[in-house]
Amino acid sequence: MKRDFLNVSDLTKDEILEIIEYAIKLKKEPFSDQTLKNKSIGLIFMKPSTRTRLSFEVGVYQMGGQPIYITGSSTQMSRGEDIKDTGRVMARYLDGIVIRTYSHKEVEDLAQYFDKPVINALTDYLHPCQILADLQTIYERFGKVEDIKVAFVGDGNNLANTWLIAGGLIGFNVSVATPEGYEPSGKAVYEALNLAKETGAEIQLTHDPVEAVKDADVIYTDVWVSMGQEEEKEKKEAFKGFTIDKQLLKHASKNAIVMHCLPAHKGEEISEEVFEQFADVIFDEAENRLHAQKALMSLLFK
Ligand code: CP
Ligand code: NVA
Repeated sequence: MKRDFLNVSDLTKDEILEIIEYAIKLKKEPFSDQTLKNKSIGLIFMKPSTRTRLSFEVGVYQMGGQPIYITGSSTQMSRGEDIKDTGRVMARYLDGIVIRTYSHKEVEDLAQYFDKPVINALTDYLHPCQILADLQTIYERFGKVEDIKVAFVGDGNNLANTWLIAGGLIGFNVSVATPEGYEPSGKAVYEALNLAKETGAEIQLTHDPVEAVKDADVIYTDVWVSMGQEEEKEKKEAFKGFTIDKQLLKHASKNAIVMHCLPAHKGEEISEEVFEQFADVIFDEAENRLHAQKALMSLLFK
């Protein structure tokens, strides 16, 4: 049976812990895993990307495979060829697909018609590859990913949704603070709460950033305006008080780290000062995209 990675919960908690440990090993021995030898992996990007594209291209190469970068506008998808036919055609050439697009449903549909692994490289709903790298980064700093609290402060977007589900699945506490009207997806909250019944994770939604960062080990943020939402720029008014800055950090514990998936809009979701204070963590996160995704591909393509 083929395995896809569309949501963090497509993996078990144990598999995620194995991926983290294996990613740390691959970080030291980048060419040691040749699982993708003689395999061609399509990288479909309907949205811009710096980190995800580069880390997958380099990662597939390091694992002995051929990455093929495909922009949305360069394929017949831009002229209306549907995902059902696109998936069936691509299955005749490719061994796997990594896809970044708008609709999560489109990725689920693709996974139905493409009979080999499909990896979600970000949709409007979820960004699970990012969270694998973030968990690796947390593990490197704290030596664990359980018994921690992650505070997400900002827009209730794809990253907020993915953190909630990851917390529920693995069993760490997540508090998401958003302005009113910008809460995470109800579907993600529902899944997180269900998973949390098993693991005991505490899932909290609030409109108070101070409450969220209290006792947090990790304070996480992301842009207020995600890709594809550019017309909603005026929403930034609603986010006053949601900037991760020195003032907010006064309410956090002394050992808390600040993380950001990047790209950052300094002066909006994070102050330049705090960004630079935690630059080592933030750029480790970016680097770990490469290692965590390689560990993921090793599992999916075995
Ligand atoms: N964090 C992240 O996914 O970055 P890119 O949009 O540059 O891929
Ligand atoms: N929420 C952001 C994440 C970018 C990596 C977006 O979807 O644009």
